[in-house]
Amino acid sequence: MAKTSFRSALVTGASSGIGEQIARTLAARGCALTLVARRTERLAALAQELGAAVAVDWLAADLSSDDGIGIVERRLGEHPVELLVNNAGVGSGGRFHELPAEGEAAQVMLNVLAVVRLTRAAAPAMVAAGRGGILNVSSIAGNQPLYGYATYGATKAFVTSFTESIAFELRGTGVHVSVLKPGYTDTEMNAGTVPDRSSVQGRLLWLGAEQVAVAAVDAVERGRVHCVPGMTWKLADAVTQSLPRAAVRVLSSRVRAS
Ligand SMILES: NC(=O)c1ccc[n+]([C@@H]2O[C@H](COP(=O)([O-])OP(=O)(O)OC[C@H]3O[C@@H](n4cnc5c(N)ncnc54)[C@H](OP(=O)(O)O)[C@@H]3O)[C@@H](O)[C@H]2O)c1
Repeated sequence: MAKTSFRSALVTGASSGIGEQIARTLAARGCALTLVARRTERLAALAQELGAAVAVDWLAADLSSDDGIGIVERRLGEHPVELLVNNAGVGSGGRFHELPAEGEAAQVMLNVLAVVRLTRAAAPAMVAAGRGGILNVSSIAGNQPLYGYATYGATKAFVTSFTESIAFELRGTGVHVSVLKPGYTDTEMNAGTVPDRSSVQGRLLWLGAEQVAVAAVDAVERGRVHCVPGMTWKLADAVTQSLPRAAVRVLSSRVRAS
């Protein structure tokens, strides 16, 4: 079994998808875990399964609420971890002016404010210890404007920029800071829209959550700031970042969310 350099980690959004797979990857590498999400029965079952290999506990928290973020901040203060994984996130589809305002605000709270507050809660102990890691889950969606996902794209643009800045600031402290920018990944977030993964479209565009998780854990272990899993998405990342913004806007406006 490959060992990770992190002895303990707190993973948000560990009850499914990429977060669950990050938890599995870390456990397989010998890292003790604190799992965070809202669906307690899923967390309890995963904790029991992974607990056969490493120490695992879990914490129920709604990270789109001030109270929920506070619960996790307090845990990080009382029990510092060597790796923080800010993975929990949601995206609501539709034209912005027609979507319920509360849902959009809750999305910003979860995708942005929780990341900022939990990073602020965890980082000082890592810097003081001279070792640690912060892995923030953003998206290729943050590279460009998104028709039908305006708030989601903007929250992920924030996560990417925020993480890159923290990575500069913590360079040389022993704390590795990485941003994960997946493309389409086969998780509950895309339930009902994933094509046959063995089709041409499936092979070219769609990633497995396990593949994404392994790439992300490798990146933060090695201190790589950016992680974009899969050749198709590496290319998409390079193209959207190198074209003039006006051209990116034209291209993006032609891609309609379903
Ligand atoms: N799938 C993709 O194509 C894709 C692409 C790029 C980036 N991402 C990003 O990857 C991350 C994980 O998403 P996923 O694809 O793995 O989707 P997923 O399977 O739906 O997982 C989302 C996770 O976030 C948790 N979560 C949602 N709302 C929460 C809340 N209010 N408080 C606490 N936890 C909450 C969910 O747990 P509970 O419901 O139990 O709370 C779940 O564990 C997200 O940040 C997403 O933006 C996904």
